Amino acid sequence: MSEKKVRKAIFPVGGLGTRFLPATKSMPKEMLPVVDKPLIHYAFEEAKEAGIEQFIFVTGRNKHAIEDHFDHSYELQSTLRKKDKKKELELTSDWLPEAGNVIFTRQQEPMGLGHAVWCARHLIGDEPFAVILADDMVLSKKGCLKQMTEAHAHTPGNILAVMDIPLEKTASYGIVDIDKNAKNKDQRLVKAKGLVEKPQPKDAPSTLSIIGRYILQPDIFSILDSTKPGAGGEIQLTDAISAMIGDKDVYGYRFDGVRYDCGSLVGFVAANVAYALEREETRDRVKQELDEVFKRAKL
Ligand code: UTP
Repeated sequence: MSEKKVRKAIFPVGGLGTRFLPATKSMPKEMLPVVDKPLIHYAFEEAKEAGIEQFIFVTGRNKHAIEDHFDHSYELQSTLRKKDKKKELELTSDWLPEAGNVIFTRQQEPMGLGHAVWCARHLIGDEPFAVILADDMVLSKKGCLKQMTEAHAHTPGNILAVMDIPLEKTASYGIVDIDKNAKNKDQRLVKAKGLVEKPQPKDAPSTLSIIGRYILQPDIFSILDSTKPGAGGEIQLTDAISAMIGDKDVYGYRFDGVRYDCGSLVGFVAANVAYALEREETRDRVKQELDEVFKRAKL
């Protein structure tokens, strides 16, 4: 089992984002802002905090705005410079990764998350890597991926961020079949003896669901080579990880934090409220406005 540091992260951003139409007709879902930052920017910051050095985006058509976001914006920057708007200028570029450390490849067709990850195989090579789904946000003191890379440092293997969900919702998630006999060094880790993609509640082996943060070993690519389409006719990452169990260790990691499903309308709205309330400069005014909104709606 490789004990190498996790240096590379894949950001699969090739999905269609149909739940956000018409907003996503010409704009990538991952560029939707939560308060004042696009979803993909939060994902990038979380990866950076976890020590990621290379940021690999698996994109599709209509995703140019993501590439532009990770590049200089010369006209805007020169106008801001002329107007001496230092703070705004910093917001456009101070955080940009060094040239060459942001890599884009196209998925060509949205054939599923497993396929999107497979598209980055030549860019990863033979080392463990992270996968971050920008539309899953985790509000936490220490970033979710950093928590996971720390767990990976003492327990190398495949590590998937997991959380408990209500039993009636299992058909929307990948669910972990927990190996109850396994002893884990870290209380937050659970060993998986299987994974089931979107089981009906009566078939679900547990209520522990996988969210959009993964640390994977490069062995996954040879499995993805021959993974057939599964649930929804898509090549599922969960199916490929599940096929590794037995040969490779797969763990769920019960992260510390609150997850917002920004791929859904309700989760996205909730994230905007939660992140605005989290920030000192907006907290009081947003709370006041929300109180007014609730009063008007008689809630
Ligand atoms: P979703 O299941 O949320 O699909 O993908 P979607 O297409 O983005 O959104 P809806 O369901 O049509 O509204 C989860 C993540 O996997 C990526 C998406 O971009 C998203 O970050 N993905 C999904 C790909 O990169 N390629 C795919 O073929 C499918």
